[in-house]
Order: sequence, then C-alpha cells, then structure tokens
Amino acid sequence: MSTFHLIDHPLIQHKLTIMRQKNTHSNDFRMLLNEISMLMGYEVTRDLPLRQIEIETPIKKTKMSTIAGKKLAIVPILRAGLGMVDGLLNLVPVARVGHIGMYRDPDTHLPVEYYCKLPADVSNRLVILVDPMLATGGSASDALTLLKQKGCRNIRFMCLVAAPEGVAKVQADHPDVDIFCAALDECLNEHAYIVPGLGDAGDRIFGTK
Ligand code: PRP
Ligand code: URA
Repeated sequence: MSTFHLIDHPLIQHKLTIMRQKNTHSNDFRMLLNEISMLMGYEVTRDLPLRQIEIETPIKKTKMSTIAGKKLAIVPILRAGLGMVDGLLNLVPVARVGHIGMYRDPDTHLPVEYYCKLPADVSNRLVILVDPMLATGGSASDALTLLKQKGCRNIRFMCLVAAPEGVAKVQADHPDVDIFCAALDECLNEHAYIVPGLGDAGDRIFGTK
C-alpha cells in the first residue's frame, strides 16, 4: 500500500485557507499555489539520495554531500497542474517537465485525455505528477497509468486538496505511488467537487469564470 503524506505545516495551512476563500483573486491564488508547491516540494524530495564529493573551502579540502544525480521529471496534469510547476522548478531547476492534458467530462465526471508530451528519458527519472485537486481520483489514476505505460516506475503524486474518495481510488489502482497532499477534505458533492474544497482550481488559477 502506498503512503499518504499529509504536509500540513502551519505556513501551508495558512496559505491554503486564503486560497479557499471565494473572493481571493486569481493573482493571489496563483502566487499562493506557487509558494505552497515549493514548500511541499521540500518534503516530496526529502529522501533524494546523496553522494559525497571532494571540495575545497577557503580553509581546507573536504568531502561534502551533493544530490546523487537523481534525475527528476515534473509532470502537471493540465490545466490546473501547471500552477504547481514553478514552485518545484525553483527547488530543482534542472528537472525536465512533461505535460498530460485531461479534463473531466461534466456529465460522467470521467477524465478525457487530450494531450501527452513527456521527456524522452522519462522512464529513467523520478516523476512527480502534480495536480492541485484529487477529487474522484479518475484523472490522477489515469495519468499514473499513462506514465506507467511509458515505462515510468518511480512516481510520486503531489496534490493540494484531496477527497477521501480520490485517495482511496489512487491507492487501490496504484499501490506503488506515494501521495503527498496539503489537506484531506470531507467528501465530494453531487457534482464531484471537493467539499469544502476551493472550487474549480483551473478556473481560479486562470480566471476563466
Ligand atoms: C480538475 C483537477 C483535476 C481533476 C480532479 O481538472 O485539476 O485534474 O479535475 O478531478 P478527479 O479527481 O475527479 O478526476 P479539470 O477536469 O476541471 O480540468 P482543468 O484543470 O483543465 O480545469
Ligand atoms: N476539480 C476541481 O478543480 N475542483 C474540485 O473540487 C474537483 C475537481
């Protein structure tokens, strides 16, 4: 069974509370999502392997730690996942970025894939799949299946707000994928929106409603 990591640092909770409020402007919403993504990235990358290299300080030669060349790929699920990319790139500027395009059918709430472009060597990379919302879990689960079809074996999923239904689906479909999340909310409503949630993340990021 995969591990569900709740990253509820006070700074993250504070910023997320502002994001949830319906009168928060897109500009602030985007900025806060970017900041939270960076803070979460600190935990998502906590166990990256290190290796010792020889360096010379102004005082003496010594051995110190550096990241052991673990290659990363950040893969947002379009559109809303785009809002989490820059925060992670601030931490790992050399990471490659892939894109998976999916939208939820408004009637069935099932995901429809419309785009996929991944780094050529994605199967050799640690992949961090990002999407702010884990609602029914359909989008995340299908995106994870797609990544596995492309050969990815080392994948983590990072989201902002999750519903218990979505966590259960991803854990059932992908027991090898750890989930990192800032808040576990109550449930889904009749439109499969997270309650209390923050509304439609894509619309709030891009001001499309
Ligand atoms: C939202 C969200 C997730 C998905 C979550 O995207 O960003 O991708 O819904 O719902 P699920 O867990 O029930 O699949 P949406 O389909 O609204 O597309 P958008 O990001 O382009 O607005
Ligand atoms: N997608 C969103 O953007 N928000 C939800 O609450 C559910 C799905």
